[in-house]
Amino acid sequence: MAKCVVRGSINIDEFFHVKDIVRPGETISSHGMSKRAGGKGANQAVAVVKAGVSVSLIGAVGEDGRWVIDLLKQFGVDVTDIEIDTEATGRAIIQLTDDGENSIILFKGANYAAHSQQFLPRGTTHLLLQNEIPFDETLRYLNLAADSSAVTIFNPSPMPSKAEIKAFPWDKLTWLIVNEGEAADLYRTLSATQTKFDPNTASNPLYAHVPAYSIVLQLSSQIPETNIVCTLGSAGVLALITSLDHKDGTRDATALPEPIFLPAAKLRNGVVDTTGAGDCFAGYLVAGLLKLYDEGITVLGRENVVSVLKRCNQAAGMCVEKRGAMESIPLTKDVDAFL
Ligand code: ADP
Ligand code: NA
Repeated sequence: MAKCVVRGSINIDEFFHVKDIVRPGETISSHGMSKRAGGKGANQAVAVVKAGVSVSLIGAVGEDGRWVIDLLKQFGVDVTDIEIDTEATGRAIIQLTDDGENSIILFKGANYAAHSQQFLPRGTTHLLLQNEIPFDETLRYLNLAADSSAVTIFNPSPMPSKAEIKAFPWDKLTWLIVNEGEAADLYRTLSATQTKFDPNTASNPLYAHVPAYSIVLQLSSQIPETNIVCTLGSAGVLALITSLDHKDGTRDATALPEPIFLPAAKLRNGVVDTTGAGDCFAGYLVAGLLKLYDEGITVLGRENVVSVLKRCNQAAGMCVEKRGAMESIPLTKDVDAFL
């Protein structure tokens, strides 16, 4: 049986509705306040579970975050390894104007506290990581997972520092999930050349119509062991699966991997709130990998990846049509109704 672990962040997002964003030295009143559970670790864990797969989240909140644990539990996330720390729960303090402008203060809080769970839970087959906990901790978990031959998935958001990106053990990473901007940032940092990024250097006329193809191809040349899934907002998704070239899982280093490009889902209601779309996509991707694993498919064929990514696009599209992050992640049965 596959077993999915997320080691990541849990936040409380506090929205203050204001006429204008406060200026230095100014005191203003907000005309409304709302509070939601968030954090990329928690959001992605909820997406995995809503996609129909069990998941355990390793993380921490403060005393003020007990309600978040309860909420995650209600969604079906295994919260056994969520600790209550003396630090307050990580926070995003968001000023939101009526015009939709925002300004955000982040507080790391308990996300950066030492955690007593020092090992990967026994039997973990898939580990999902983001970058809202100490980078060393992310690395430690990645190494533990690689040591036990688990599949590793990393969504490097927010972007790590240049030094961290260069020192990252990319050969231990199975799947990278990035958006287009993140893909370009990673490429610029990883390529030894100081030259400005050239969007045309790697273009292949066959794939000229595929957005971000040359960026992702050049990034792939820097991290050839890693499958790259690049989300493209309203354009959909581009994936470069470098281990697909041969059915036995081996790879011809000289062969350019065939890109998989899938357009975004058609929205019925238009864009309402893109918050959490990336997290929804990541959770659905990992859940898809776990389902294949449980079907005994560990060497993926192109058609396996295409079917997983179609579901991700549909789920993320539905997430964009609703307000909120966790709340707007659809259930797998509602996603499947459109496939
Ligand atoms: P992030 O928010 O992490 O930058 P993206 O903006 O690339 O991520 O969005 C993630 C996914 O959400 C996309 O790959 C797509 O499936 C879906 N999505 C985002 N915006 C739209 C949109 N306007 N219409 C349909 N789907 C969208
Ligand atoms: Na949303």
